[in-house]
Amino acid sequence: MSSLDPTSLPAWQALAEGARDLPHLADLLDADPDRFQRFRIDAPRMRLDLSRQRWDDGIRSHLVALAKDAGIDAARRQLFEANTFNPTEGRAVLHTALRAPAQASIDVDGADAVAAVHEALGRLRTLTASVRSGVWRGSTGRTIGDVVNIGIGGSFLGPAMVCDALGDSDGPKVHFLANIDGTEAARLLPTLDPTRTLFIIASKSFGTLETRTNALTVRSWLLERGVTPEELRKHFVAISTNIAAAAEFGLPEENLLPLWDWVGGRYSVTSTIGLPIALGHGYEVFERLLAGARAMDEHFRDAPLTANAPVLLALAELWNQNFLGTESHAVLPYATALDLLPDYLQQLEMESNGKSVRSDGSPVTTRTGTILWGNVGTNGQHAYHQLLHQGTAPFSAQFILSMAADHDFDHHHDWLAAHCFAQAEVFARGRSKAEVQAELEAKGMSAEEARTAAPHRAMPGNHPSTTVLLDDLGPASLGALIALHEHKVFVQGMIWGINSFDQWGVELGKVLGTTIHGALTDAQGGAHSVDPTTRALVVLYRERRR
Ligand code: F6P
Repeated sequence: MSSLDPTSLPAWQALAEGARDLPHLADLLDADPDRFQRFRIDAPRMRLDLSRQRWDDGIRSHLVALAKDAGIDAARRQLFEANTFNPTEGRAVLHTALRAPAQASIDVDGADAVAAVHEALGRLRTLTASVRSGVWRGSTGRTIGDVVNIGIGGSFLGPAMVCDALGDSDGPKVHFLANIDGTEAARLLPTLDPTRTLFIIASKSFGTLETRTNALTVRSWLLERGVTPEELRKHFVAISTNIAAAAEFGLPEENLLPLWDWVGGRYSVTSTIGLPIALGHGYEVFERLLAGARAMDEHFRDAPLTANAPVLLALAELWNQNFLGTESHAVLPYATALDLLPDYLQQLEMESNGKSVRSDGSPVTTRTGTILWGNVGTNGQHAYHQLLHQGTAPFSAQFILSMAADHDFDHHHDWLAAHCFAQAEVFARGRSKAEVQAELEAKGMSAEEARTAAPHRAMPGNHPSTTVLLDDLGPASLGALIALHEHKVFVQGMIWGINSFDQWGVELGKVLGTTIHGALTDAQGGAHSVDPTTRALVVLYRERRR
C-alpha cells in the first residue's frame, strides 16, 4: 500500500480550493432538483442518499481523482488476493476471503486461505448442528441451553452487534462476557445452569488479559459447581490462532476452531468468531450474513468508483473531516436492532485509522481517523440532538433506517422513518432567524417579540449527512452493512497512506496496566510506577481497599 502524502496530490489542492466558497447545503439542495437522483447509490441490500453531503459534482470528481491518484484501483483488487497491507505486523489482510466462494483460491505462505476458510466453516456448521440439535451434551448429559462468548474487542463487538440485531435466538440463549470488570461475570453467572452452558473462548491471540481472566473465573465457577476437570471439554470451545495456548488451557483439538493471522480482530465477525451467531440463530443465518458481506465485497471490487457505495461513503467523510473541518461523526441508526452498531463501528474505524504516521513511518500531514459516536434514534433526539442542532461543534452524521420493520407495529415504523428523515433535513437546512421570525409572526406574535425570540430558535444547519436505507434488518443486510463500513475504512486508510490493520497504540496501556496491577497487589505499594500521580492513586487505593 502506498504511503504517499495525499496532501501533495493535485486533487487535494483542487479540493482545498473547492472548499473555500462552498454554498450552504440548503442552497446546494435548492439549486438542483435532481440532486437526490445524482447522489443516490444503489448497493447490495441498501440504497444510500449522499445528496445531503455538502459537495457538488466538481467536488465529487476531485475526490474520485484523489482516490485514483492514491491507488484505489490496485488497492481494491489486492484486497482480494495475497497482499502485504499490514507490514508492521508482517501480515496480509484478507477478511474478504472469509466470505469468498469455495472455488476461489488465495495463496498465503503456501496455504490456500479460501480452502482453510471453507474447511473451518464446515466444522463450524457441524458444531452448530451438534449443539442446536442436542447431540452436544453438558456434564450431566443435558442439552445446551445457554452459550456465553468470552471475548473482547473484535472477538466480542461484531458477534454481539449481530446477535442483538437479529433478536431472540431460536437456539440456545447467547450471552457475552467481555469486560475485566467482575460485575459482568457476577451478574451473568448466577443466571446460568452450569451443566447446560457452553462457553466460547474467543480470542485471536488467546493472550488477552480480560478474556483469560474471565475464562479462568468461569473454569473455577464450573469446577466449584461439580463439573470435573475431564468434563470441562463439554463446556468450553475456543476460537483462536494460538492453538498451543488453547491446548494449554486444557482444550482438545476438536474443541478448537481456527482463526488466521490475516484476519484483523475488528474484521473478524464473518470468521469463526461469528460462532455465537450460528449457535443462536442457525448456520443458515450465518451463511446469509456471509452472502450479504460477499455481495458488498463484489460491489466494492467491481462497481465504478462514481457508483461505489464504500468508496463514496469514504470520500464524503474524508471531505467532511479534512476539508470542511467536521470534528466527529455521529452514527444514528433509526433501528433499535442496531443499538450496538455505533460500538462496533467505533472499534472498526477508530482502532483502524487512529494513526499519526503513514505506512513508511513518516508523520501524516492531515487529520486521520474519525471520532465516531452515536446511538439509536429517536432516543438521541431527546438527549444530544440539541447540541447537534444549535451547538458549535462541527460534525457529520450517518442515518440508517430499515425499509422493513422487524415487528408488526407499522405505525411505529412510519413515525420512526418520519423522524429519521426530519432530522437529516434539519441538519442540512437548519432554520434562519428570518424564517423563525416570520413563522412566529404568522402565529400572532408581535414583530418585536418575534425578533427577540428568533435567535434562540434559529439553527444554522449546513451539517452533512448520509442516509442509508437498508432493505431490512435480516442477516444479509447486516453482512452488507458490515462490509460497507470495512471497505469505507480501508479506502480512507489507503488515501491517508496509513496502515489500517495494526493497533500498536493500545499496547502501552496494557503493559502499564500490568505494572500497576503489580503495584496494587504486591507489598511494594506504588513503587513500581514512575508517575507521581499514579503512585499517589495506588497508595490511596490500597488504603481504601484494606
Ligand atoms: O487490544 C486490542 C485488541 O488487540 C483488538 O484489536 C482485538 O480485537 C482485541 O484486542 C481482542 O484480541 P483477541 O481476540 O486476541 O483476544
